[in-house]
Amino acid sequence: MPRRVVILGCTGSIGRQALDVVQRSGGELELVGISAGRDWQQLLEQAQQFGVDRIALADPDAAARASEAWTAGTVLSGPEGLVALVTEGDCDLVLNAIVGAAGLLATVATLGEGIDLALANKESLVVGGELVNQLAEATGAQILPVDSEHSALHQLLAGEGAGTVDRLLLTASGGPFRGHTAQQLADVSAEQALAHPTWSMGGKISIDSATLMNKGLEVIEAHHLFGVPYEQIDVVVHPQSIIHALIQLCDGATLAHLGYPDMRVPIAYALHHPARTEVPVPALDLVSVGALTFEPPDVETFPCLRLAREAGIAGGTAPCILNAANEVAVHAFLEGRLQFIGIAAVIEQTLSKLPAQTVHSFESLLAADADARRVASELIEA
Ligand SMILES: NC(=O)c1ccc[n+]([C@@H]2O[C@H](COP(=O)([O-])OP(=O)(O)OC[C@H]3O[C@@H](n4cnc5c(N)ncnc54)[C@H](OP(=O)(O)O)[C@@H]3O)[C@@H](O)[C@H]2O)c1
Repeated sequence: MPRRVVILGCTGSIGRQALDVVQRSGGELELVGISAGRDWQQLLEQAQQFGVDRIALADPDAAARASEAWTAGTVLSGPEGLVALVTEGDCDLVLNAIVGAAGLLATVATLGEGIDLALANKESLVVGGELVNQLAEATGAQILPVDSEHSALHQLLAGEGAGTVDRLLLTASGGPFRGHTAQQLADVSAEQALAHPTWSMGGKISIDSATLMNKGLEVIEAHHLFGVPYEQIDVVVHPQSIIHALIQLCDGATLAHLGYPDMRVPIAYALHHPARTEVPVPALDLVSVGALTFEPPDVETFPCLRLAREAGIAGGTAPCILNAANEVAVHAFLEGRLQFIGIAAVIEQTLSKLPAQTVHSFESLLAADADARRVASELIEA
């Protein structure tokens, strides 16, 4: 029996690479539902190519246009449409590749139904880590990380017993501005920030990589995925992006996960788990790679990594506020309304204006998210 898969955020960078994994699966993976935000034309093309008859668009206007253009299947609309795609589609696995906190609802819907979740949308765990984990525990659904570092950690930790792991190490490429001074960062453009040296990704995560916020979000993600305290999670800059993560063990051994940077590797791992499948990436040739280098992250020049770690340690609504302020600031930077160095400043000021509260429910997270977006927007407009 094929594994029945829904891909949310199918028109994005991860979504399109996941389609490639499905196409190469030789029928082991069957696509039963796909979604996008508003790019209804690309989504319809994908539905037709993969014979999918249920699609969802978060944007109601886009859903209406898709409904007019396509009568061969069902078009679901709005956030509730995304939820219905997951909960009423009789699927075995959902890949959440939506960008931003907008992905939390789909994570909750998936885990709430007891459906296994391949999670690229790290913001779900950053915003609602504790509640998301409680939900997964309550229903018995698995969370399979798709982020390359966390996929590496998942594989490295699989063979280790309780109490043997001292430390997790996430690698970071350093982004396009590695080695820049604060002065050099003052007038960098969106185009420069989008040009990631080793990974080809969507716009938001590319900017997060340039500010090092992406690595900060990943530290919080690792804390929730693997239940490891923050003081045992480190970041090391490794510009070649060959080593994705390492674990240090109590007996002095350190294990690493290596491979050329290609997101189809962690996507295939999550979609086929626990089986392994062939992915068309070259075998690692260490001689041609030559040298693997490492350096500490520059948290003075790139304060977002420090801000994220602090928010994670503060807990409660702090990571949710951090994430929302970051989304607003990144959006403003991409639209030319905020300087690159203003991103961290907006986040820090938003966090200082909104002290962390205890999280009681998903509703309290939605309220914190809305407050942070309002405050961050006001700071940018001031
Ligand atoms: N790209 C990577 O290599 C990579 C690696 C590791 C982790 N991730 C994580 O994976 C997630 C997706 O990243 P990406 O680079 O693939 O992003 P992306 O290229 O920007 O794609 C985002 C997807 O989400 C959809 N979307 C946007 N806003 C939405 C909303 N409000 N509701 C529902 N769907 C919405 C988009 O639809 P439209 O096309 O209609 O806008 C698109 O399908 C992020 O959380 C990112 O951090 C990405």
